[in-house]
Amino acid sequence: MHQGFQVSSRSTPEQYGHTPLGKQLRRRKSIEAMANDAANNAGLGSLKRSLGVTQLVMISVGATLGTGILVILGSAVPVAGPAIWIAFVLAGITALLSAVSYAEMAGMVPVSGSSYSYSYATLGEGMAWICGWCLVLEYAVSAAAVAVGAGAYVNQTLEIFGLALPQALAAGPGDGGIINLSALIVVILATLLLVRGARESALANTAMVIVKIAILIFFVVVAFTAFNAGNFAPLLPMGAAGVTGAASMVFFSYIGFDAASTAGEEAKNPQKDLPRAIMIAMVLVTTIYVLVAVAAIGAREWDWFANSEAALVQIVSEITGQKWMVLAFALASVIAIVSVVLTTLYGQTRILLSMGRDGLIPRFFAKVSPKTHTPVIGTYVTGGAVAIAASLIPLGQLAEATSIGTLFAFSLVGVSVMYLRKTQPDTPRTFRVPLYPATPILGIAACLFLMFNLAGITWVVFGIWMAVGAGIYLGFGRRNSRLGALDAKAYEAELNL
Ligand code: ALA
Repeated sequence: MHQGFQVSSRSTPEQYGHTPLGKQLRRRKSIEAMANDAANNAGLGSLKRSLGVTQLVMISVGATLGTGILVILGSAVPVAGPAIWIAFVLAGITALLSAVSYAEMAGMVPVSGSSYSYSYATLGEGMAWICGWCLVLEYAVSAAAVAVGAGAYVNQTLEIFGLALPQALAAGPGDGGIINLSALIVVILATLLLVRGARESALANTAMVIVKIAILIFFVVVAFTAFNAGNFAPLLPMGAAGVTGAASMVFFSYIGFDAASTAGEEAKNPQKDLPRAIMIAMVLVTTIYVLVAVAAIGAREWDWFANSEAALVQIVSEITGQKWMVLAFALASVIAIVSVVLTTLYGQTRILLSMGRDGLIPRFFAKVSPKTHTPVIGTYVTGGAVAIAASLIPLGQLAEATSIGTLFAFSLVGVSVMYLRKTQPDTPRTFRVPLYPATPILGIAACLFLMFNLAGITWVVFGIWMAVGAGIYLGFGRRNSRLGALDAKAYEAELNL
């Protein structure tokens, strides 16, 4: 048995202030120490193992299916033409190539930190921090951006009932209002639910996921009644470059499949269930997206989409001639997006829990309430920050920044798989990446390819984001790193590893 991974009283961060930066950045946290941490959360209170494979699948699907598929056709179809479904397949393959790496790592290192923890175990503290900071883009920033989308749908639904909010309450200052009240309420409700418990949140999420899958299947069925095979010709009016450009755009709609990997410390049987959940979610989501894309193009010619903001609902209401469909879609869209906010916030609190436990951010993020078995303070702080951002900042432009951070984190997971296959070939794995090493290499290449396809401005935003992250690490993380507080050897000896 390993002893608790505690910083001993004779080791202080000050001692570590003398460690050269390069050495500290490369310092790794062993998988054994992670397992130990997962078991006792460094004495900060334990999460509860309450989630089965179905709930884990639903967490990943919950975080993935949402804004993207509901709104992205309007901007992506004009870029790709009828081959938009190929763009979805390409983005899906990119996500799948990373998903298998996630599955292998999640089975091996089933902790709350997801790719942040995988990077800590393989590439060292510096890369772990960079990865964790990218995950804030994938989770917290996207939760805020998605909440703004949810706010728009809530407002639209209220308008149908003749209860339109005054502009001052319908949008934040950047969008011509004062506060985005609906986005604020969505985030507050999600935060309160998360504080109550992981199981309660997972149950609510499962119900919402069923609604969103149902509405998309409904769309596919209705759209197929107006199917015209002629709409698929010419397949590539914008050339192959159009398709790859659109693939980068629609990649946003795949973000979130990895959310189950943040439930490593709350899954009943993480080694077995996490890889399964990630793979099932991925296949389910890709199938739904490709069906939606094929059905949409079958129903309308590709140049029709340029003028449609909410293509799916427009197609359904035009085909059926039923105006109430607009209301049903608006309500289902709100539910769909609320579940994205809930699950991405969930994932963010668990990643921050791991980072807080490691001392790279304040430790209160890792404190778990003995009553609810949730990181109450961390959840309130995260929810509060996301609520402020969602209600006040115009976040529409951030979707691409979210994608770039996510793609970078995904590529690190591929690198982590390769590192551990080399350094720890005999450690048991419950899931193995097929066709190794081609799969992770292709996965990394695909992520980099999509990253380089994103707009220049996205890279500028990403650069600024990373510079801020580096400042926080140098100012706080480096000085408070728990791993940094112990000499690596003394640390191994102390843990008796
Ligand atoms: N994949 C998530 C969505 O499309 C972020 O809303």
